[in-house]
Amino acid sequence: MDTIIVKVTEQGDSIKRASDILRAGGLVAFPTETVYGLGGDGLNKEASGKIYAAKGRPSDNPLIIHIGDRDALGELVKEVKKPAVKLMDAFWPGPMTLIFDKADRVPKETTGGLDTVAIRYPSHPIALRLLRESGVYIAAPSANLSGRPSPTDARHVVEDLNGRIDMILDGGAVEIGLESTIIDVTGVHPVILRPGFITKEMIEQILPDITVDPAILVESKQERLVAKAPGMKYKHYAPRGQLYLVEGTNEKAVFEKINALVKEASEKGLRAAVIATEESAGSYPAGLVKVMGSRLREETVAKKLFAILREMDDLGVDIIYSESFGRQGLGQAIMNRLLKAAGYQIISADES
Ligand code: TXA
Ligand code: MG
Repeated sequence: MDTIIVKVTEQGDSIKRASDILRAGGLVAFPTETVYGLGGDGLNKEASGKIYAAKGRPSDNPLIIHIGDRDALGELVKEVKKPAVKLMDAFWPGPMTLIFDKADRVPKETTGGLDTVAIRYPSHPIALRLLRESGVYIAAPSANLSGRPSPTDARHVVEDLNGRIDMILDGGAVEIGLESTIIDVTGVHPVILRPGFITKEMIEQILPDITVDPAILVESKQERLVAKAPGMKYKHYAPRGQLYLVEGTNEKAVFEKINALVKEASEKGLRAAVIATEESAGSYPAGLVKVMGSRLREETVAKKLFAILREMDDLGVDIIYSESFGRQGLGQAIMNRLLKAAGYQIISADES
């Protein structure tokens, strides 16, 4: 299949063409404020089937349905409880996805067989234009091949999906770089299922009793295997080179540990790379060093994380050592993605 790739402009007809494709059951990748999405008609089970096929995604991993106004909820979900209304008032449109009991018209092909449905009202102007012009409820997972890092720029989508989908809308680099915060609002007490740009601390301002799914907090590889934590089932964001996170109580110990590991790897003839921050980049004299952003502004780290993992693949590195981050605020989402990418392999710099 030939994939149409177009830069979106105010004057052009790209959104109109994309809308026609969506209404006809085709697939269009488009930018959102978090990552690029691979969109199809969420109420059309054939379109959902095409999304799974194009990504190589297991068909029991449910999709998020995107909406362009809040009224659409009434057609897609059974019930909206009070805490959900508070969350929507505070964070929609924006990088937050809510899980509801699904209305009958939402096909199980879209929800991976579940009776619940994930709904997101994005804020990106191109996503909103597409939703409103097409009138389609757009099911959209991240627009990467299954197992690869989420795309934060149109060129990442081209890398993964060119020739596999009908159209790619190029809206440049995205703003946030990590996927939306997912919150289950089907029960009495909402639960965070996936950390994101909207942090637990921000949600606590609205809902003091918000909790985080315990599976997110299990970081050891062994414990995850024992607990069979959800998400363990699917391979995630793994770069082709093996990634290790290095963590320690003081930063000097971390620098020394990483430098020793790089030396060891090089002696074995492996191509090693370091993922550092603006503050620490100068502390690694040997090896290939990539800077992920500044620790003082973790949103800069979030924005570059997936692009750096892709860059590691392009550079053909065999082994990657990354610094770690605290689990507070945005750090929780950053560490969640890094840990998945590393297959939960953490090296302590404190043990000698
Ligand atoms: O920011 C985002 O959320 C991006 C953009 C494109 O909107 N989308 C995205 O989709 O990250 P995806 O498919 O890559 O991740 C969706 C996650 C999956 O982990 C899936 O298991 C979970 O949402 N999910 C979807 N429906 C669910 C449901 N009914 N119950 C529990 N988890 C659900
Ligand atoms: Mg994804």
